Amino acid sequence: MYEIIETIVHSAGEIVLRAKHIDESVQEKSSHCDLVTKYDGMVQEYLHRELLTAFPEAGFYGEEEEEHDIAGKAAYFIVDPIDGTMNFIRHARHSCISVGLMKDGQMEYGAVYQPYTGEMFTAQRGKGAYLNGRPLRMRDVPLSESIAMFGSAIYYRDTIPATARLMQEALPLVLDFRRSGSAALDICYLAAGRADVFFEACIRPWDYAAAALIAQEAGALVSALDGTPLRYIDRCSVAVGTKTNHPELIKIVQRILNEPDMKGRIK
Ligand code: IPD
Ligand code: CA
Repeated sequence: MYEIIETIVHSAGEIVLRAKHIDESVQEKSSHCDLVTKYDGMVQEYLHRELLTAFPEAGFYGEEEEEHDIAGKAAYFIVDPIDGTMNFIRHARHSCISVGLMKDGQMEYGAVYQPYTGEMFTAQRGKGAYLNGRPLRMRDVPLSESIAMFGSAIYYRDTIPATARLMQEALPLVLDFRRSGSAALDICYLAAGRADVFFEACIRPWDYAAAALIAQEAGALVSALDGTPLRYIDRCSVAVGTKTNHPELIKIVQRILNEPDMKGRIK
C-alpha cells in the first residue's frame, strides 16, 4: 500500500542528484547558519504534487512552506525535502529526503532516502524497518559500548549551553561521538547499527518523524530528551537509543535539567 511513497521519494532524489550551481540559489532563513536553496523548494513541490495525487485525502506538513495543511486531517505527510541542507550546499553528499506519514495521531510509515548512496530506509508501524529491503534490527548496548550521534540544534541559540553540557557529560561515557549534519540520516544510522544513541536539544518534526519510526521499528526507544513522548508538531528535543542506553541518556539529561541555568534550554 505504501510502496508508492517509496517510489515517489526515490524519484525526488533525481532532483538532488541533478542539482547544478547550488551556491547561486542559497538564501538565509532564520539566521546566517539556517540556509535554503531553490532545490529544497523544487523537491518539496514535487513531493507535494505526487504524494497528494496518490493520497488525495492527506494533508502536508513540509519544511519549506509558510502554511501547513493539516487541520482536521486524519492523515498527513511530514516532509523534509532535503535534510542536511548545509551538506548539500557544500557538496558533502550526505543529505536525504525524509517523508513520514502520520495517521490518526501515530506515525504510520516512513521513508528516508540518501540519493548519493542509493540507500532507502523504510518502515511501516508494526512491520519492521528495512534498508533497501533488508530487515534492520538494532543491537542492545549500554552507553559504554555506544557510538553517539548528535545534532547541535544550531538554529536555536538558547539551547547551545545544554548541548555543550550534555556532550561534556556523555563524552567520557561513550566510545566516541559523530556529527553528520543530517538528523534523519543519523537516526537511520542507529537503525542500521552504525551508531547506537542520538540526541538533539531542539529540532523540527520533519527532521525526525520518518527516521524515528524507522529506528523504533528496528528496536530503538525514542522520546524527547526529558523522557516524555516525542511531539510531532512545532519543535521537540529528540533522544533515540537502545533499551539500555536510552534510559542512561535520559538520566543524564534529567540531572542537567535540574541545574539552575539549564531550565528551558532543552525543548
Ligand atoms: C538540520 C539537520 C541537522 C540538525 C538540524 C536540522 P536541515 O536539518 O538535520 O543535522 O542538527 O537541527 O535542522 O536544516 O538540513 O533540513
Ligand atoms: Ca531541510
